[in-house]
This record gives sequence, structure tokens and C-alpha cells, in this order.
Amino acid sequence: MPKLNAVTDLTSQGGIAVLTIDSPPVNALSTAVRAGLDLGFRAALADGHIQAIVLICSGRTFIAGADISEFGKPDTGPDFPALMRFIENASKPVVAAIHGTALGGGLEVALICHYRVAVPAAKLGLPEVKLGLLPGGGGTQRLPRIVGVEAALDLITSGRSLDAAEALAAGLLDAVVEESHLREQAIAFAQRIVAEKRPLKRIRDLDDKVAAARGKPEIFTQFRRANARAFRGFKAPENIIKSIEAAVTLPFDAGMQRELELFTELLQSPESAAQRYAFFAEREAAKVPDLPAKTPTLTVGTVGVVGAGTMGGGIAMCFVNAGMPVTLIDAQADALERGMQTIRKNYENTARRGKLTAADVQQRMALLTPSLDFSALASADLVVEAVYENLDSKKDVFRRLDAAAKPEAILASNTSYLDLDAIATATRRADRVVGLHFFSPANVMRLLEIVRGAKTSPEVLATSLQIGRKIGKAVVVSGVAPGFIANRTMSPRKLVARELILEGPRPWDVDRVLTDFGFPMGPFAVTDLVGLDVIDWDRHNSKRANVHEALCEMGRWGQKKGAGYYDYDSNRRPTPSPEVVRVIEEFAAGRPPGPRRTTDAEILESVLYPVVNEGTKVLEQRTALRASDIDVALMIGYGWPVFTGGPLFWADTVGLAHIVERLDALARNHGPAYQPTALLRKLAASGGTLHTLRTTDPVS
Ligand code: 3HC
Repeated sequence: MPKLNAVTDLTSQGGIAVLTIDSPPVNALSTAVRAGLDLGFRAALADGHIQAIVLICSGRTFIAGADISEFGKPDTGPDFPALMRFIENASKPVVAAIHGTALGGGLEVALICHYRVAVPAAKLGLPEVKLGLLPGGGGTQRLPRIVGVEAALDLITSGRSLDAAEALAAGLLDAVVEESHLREQAIAFAQRIVAEKRPLKRIRDLDDKVAAARGKPEIFTQFRRANARAFRGFKAPENIIKSIEAAVTLPFDAGMQRELELFTELLQSPESAAQRYAFFAEREAAKVPDLPAKTPTLTVGTVGVVGAGTMGGGIAMCFVNAGMPVTLIDAQADALERGMQTIRKNYENTARRGKLTAADVQQRMALLTPSLDFSALASADLVVEAVYENLDSKKDVFRRLDAAAKPEAILASNTSYLDLDAIATATRRADRVVGLHFFSPANVMRLLEIVRGAKTSPEVLATSLQIGRKIGKAVVVSGVAPGFIANRTMSPRKLVARELILEGPRPWDVDRVLTDFGFPMGPFAVTDLVGLDVIDWDRHNSKRANVHEALCEMGRWGQKKGAGYYDYDSNRRPTPSPEVVRVIEEFAAGRPPGPRRTTDAEILESVLYPVVNEGTKVLEQRTALRASDIDVALMIGYGWPVFTGGPLFWADTVGLAHIVERLDALARNHGPAYQPTALLRKLAASGGTLHTLRTTDPVS
């Protein structure tokens, strides 16, 4: 049988048609794929020799969803809902043969097939929520009919995937077949269906699971209440809940209609636009324009980590979690012992939560070798230094690493602030030196800034990008500059927040405004969590010059002391502190009269517009490759709300002219630190957008 179009073909074997989609990278449901499906099903149904149809994909995965890059563009292909109805109503059995990831619209296509088989490594899920959407191809109507309403609420609002075994147990799959024999075994399965004259199972006809939730609105009320905090600011979860409610209360076709309305509303929402931007921005961040795709990479099998403190331990765990053996070095035996114990404790805690088995814990610990001796790093392919943030200490470590590690090994620094090029001068291999800036706790936080030094070789950069992916990080490439991208761009938030509390708003007011905006925590709560003593306090030269120093001198070091900007009870629950108010008023009393910022709107613009402005400085100095990298770094590294798209995407939605006007006013009243950059002014004047900017474009 013929190739149907550029991305689909149809063959047959023993009375079974095999419709194959081959549309790299992920077989998304593009216009061409939908056209191929339409042609393929029509041909197979019209062919009298064909008794059943297997739908399968080439390449790395089954259909991974609708083609997100086509959203918002004129739709010229076959109508998706009509195509879905056509397949579901086919007069011959249709079997979906799944490998890789059947996600979103991909799983929805599988769910209109009459049967589903998958290989053990397959994953199935409806992750649309992560794009600010809901499954718009019947997912919210069909999934509850198989797994029940509660499970569907959980799966669709979390976007979590099931593996093949879980999907089989949940009734999503009819069979799990052998990993490398999907095609033959799916055909054999289809032949069995035909031989046994099994019925055409249509999920739409099932009712018992949704009937079980009928007349029980409390299921939805309770679900909303239990997840209110997690869903705050996002639009999609509420529409998903409403759509699943429709599956319970309406007949199938009316439920589908309701789903489509709720999907369309999301598709047009600013939240989804921001989340879709974030999806592509994260992937683009891993691309470096002047690094050819074919750049050779170095083999990294074994890793060394120098420094067994919180950061070093977390970094070691990242590699161990990816199955890589790690030698953990510290100069002090007790620090090394403590570091190893902390890692073990972290794994044991994960095991207690059921996410690892005791055997997994043993296996991971077995990948770790503690040592006090740099010579243990002789065979490491990559060494990551995570010692105290001091240039001389780091240079000393790199000098010793250069002597101990094999000549081709990559030497990486986890510095968050220092000059990587200066560190590299301590070695005879500056081309093999790179920055790998993890965020704390390194085993949890997904952001990894890869710092490209003046002499870092293309191979080392390409290898670093590959390693980042291997250990599951979102990577952003930074030039050498103080604070790199994320910390630098975010620095004004903390500084302005400390000014604001002298003008009337309390720390808890500032925190509330920022959490209402969508941050998981405000700057003062974060400071209390990390510790006031470790943020901006030099205990030997402390002069009680500001509120922060005063609180440090009072021993109010944050949560660990039960007192910081807030008071804490024994469960670490914060309450506003009258003592802190007294200290603030003491410092505020000495300030000259002048304009005060007191409203929530003033707080928000005073804190966040300078962050936008700082982002434009990072672009002007070409520390980031593109504006979207800054957005990625802040969303992933600092919890900047994804539904706003990060500071620069958000700034475009607010309006650059407005931001410039407000920054000018802030500069007039509160000092030149607020002065908008030339880049920001220029874009505001020309009506340009910030989030699309690349530093290969002319920027000033
Ligand atoms: N549409 C368009 N492009 C997509 C895509 C999609 N649904 N999914 C992935 N891509 C692209 C990526 O942008 C990337 O392109 P690039 O190479 O040019 O950067 C390429 O495919 C590979 O993607 P990843 O780098 O993410 O590859 P991984 O192997 O790490 O992951 C994946 C593969 C798990 C499929 C991951 O890409 C993913 O999670 N994709 C999104 C899945 C999804 O959200 N599906 C739902 C879409 S919305 C929908 O279906 C609506 C429907 O209900 C109507």
C-alpha cells in the first residue's frame, strides 16, 4: 500500500493494516499528521481485505500531543474532533501500539482506538495542564470513564504520566507487549481480536465510573479545597475540574462540547500563552547559536565533587541519581563524614516517602566514594568544585585539581558569583574549565547555569549541556559576570524589599504582595528560611547599620532560631513580629522625609520593575544569549510564576512604556538605582518586545 503523505504510510500484514506515523521529533499531531491519519483510516476502512487497523509510530515515541507550535495559527488540516469521531466510529477494530510517550492529544487518539497495547517503558499521560490547557480531544470525558473521577482529577490536574504497568492496572491498556516487538505483537493482538470477534470497545459508551460520582458534588468541592494552594494563579486546573464535572453531569456529546468551550477559553488565555512560551523557551535555552550541533562531546563516566557541604552533597546526589559513580572529597574528615551522612539521610527520607526502595538507597550510596585525598580524582572525567565562595580558596582548589586530575578531565566550578576566568588561570587547561552553577538544594532545584569562560572549549560546553540533560536539569548558558543570570537579575527584589519596609509596608506585606503575584515565598520568608546570618552579614564587621544587621546581631537568624523577620512557633509557623516592627521603626525614624510607597501596587512595581530592568542589563552586557533564557532561569531557579512567563515576557504583557514611566518616577523619588536602561527605553519607544530579543541582535 502507498505512502500516504510525507509523514504517514500504510502497509498491511495478514489482513491487518498498519498505519505508521513518522513525523520527527515527537510525532505531534500536526496538520500533516492529521491529514495522514484521515487518509490512512479512509483507505484501510475501504479495503475489503483489511480486518483491523494498528496505529503505530516510528522514531522515539508514540504521538506526544497536539503540535503546540501550530496553536494560534490558521488551521488548514482536517478538523481534529471530526477525525477523532471518524476513528472511534470505525467499523473495524483499531489498536493503538504505544512506545515512548503517549501524551496529551496522543493519548487522546489512543483512547478513541478500541484497544491499546504498549511496551513496558511506555508512558501515558495528559500533561496539557503544564501548558495552561486541558485535554481538548476528549481526555477529560474519556479518562474518568476508565479510571474514575478522583483518579482523573488527580492525573489531569497534575499532568503526571503513568508507566505501562500502572496504565494496565488502571485499565488504560489492554496488554503490555515485549519492548522490541511492538509491531509484530500489536498485529498479533489485532488478529486475535478479529479471530475472537471481540467487540469494538468505545470508551465513550462506559458509564459506571462516572455514574459513581453523580450526585456527589462534594468530590469536586473537596478537590478544589485540597489543592487551592497548588493551583493558585493558574487558570487551567479550574477549567479541568469543570470539564470533568461535565463528564459526570452531562451526556457524552454535551460533555465534549463543554470540554471544547473550556479548552478554547484556555487556549486564548494569557496564562496558557505564558506557559507555552515557557515550554519552548526552556528547550531553546539548551541551544547555543555558535555551537554547531555536531560538536563532539567528551565521555563522562565518573565524576568527582570537591566539598562535602550542603552544595557539594546535593551536586553529588544529582550525578548518583543518574547512575554515575562519584568520588566526594573534603579536606576535613568530620565534614566528609557529615556530608555522607546527610546524603544517606536524604535518600532514606525519600525512601520513607515511598519514592525509593531500601535497595535503591543502598545502590545509590554504593556509587559514592568518600575521600580526603585529591589523588582519588585521578580517573574522574569531570570534577565539580563546591567549596567556600572565595576566589583564593577556589584558585587553590583548581591548582590542586589541575595536578591531580587527568589532563583531559573537565574541571567545573560551582561558583555563584566569582570570576570563572580568574579561577581558570590557576590551571594549565583553561579550555577545560567551565562553570556548573547549581541552585540549592542542588538535588532538588532544576536550574543549572552553565558558565562559559573566555577559553572554555566548544567540546566542553557541548559536554556540559549533555551532562545537564543527563542529570535532568534545565540548562541556561551564561557568560562570565558577577551573579551570572538568575541571581543577578533577581538581586533587586531583595534590596528594594529592604528599602520598602522603612517606608511603611511590613515584611509580611511585601511577602504577601509577592505571593499574591504567584511567587511561592516572599523575600523575607526566603531570607528566614535560608538564614539571615548567611545572607549579607559579615559578623566580624557588623555595625548595626541597617535592619538586617540589627536582626543578625540580635540572633534573629531565621527559622532555625525561631526568629528572623518573622517569629516562629515550634512547628515553624510564622507570625508577624512586634520586635521586628520596633527595629524597623527605629531605623525608619532616622530617614529623611520623602515620598513613601505603601499600596500593594506600589510595592509590586517597586520590587519587580527593577528586576525587569536588571534583566535588560544582563542582555546589554550579553551575559545571557537571549531574553527567554533569563525568563527560564527565573521561573525555574526562583519560582517566578510560570503563568506570567518570567520577568521579560511579563514585562511585555504589562507594557514597556508603562514600566519605563514608572521606573523614571521611582528614580526621581528614590534614587538613580531605578533608572531604566537604554535598551528598555529604546524598546519602549519603538514599541518592540523584550522577550523575543537575542543578544546576537543589535541590543543598544
Ligand atoms: N508540539 C510541538 N513540538 C513539540 C511537542 C509538541 N507537542 N512536544 C515536543 N516538541 C518538540 C520540542 O519543542 C523539541 O523541539 P526542538 O528539538 O526543536 O527543541 C522536540 O520536540 C523534542 O522535545 P524535547 O526536547 O522535550 O524531547 P524529550 O525527549 O526530552 O521529551 C516529550 C519528549 C516528553 C514528548 C516532551 O517534548 C514533552 O513533554 N512534550 C510536550 C507534551 C505535551 O505537552 N503534549 C500535550 C500537548 S497539548 C495537546 O495535546 C492538546 C490536546 O489535548 C488537544
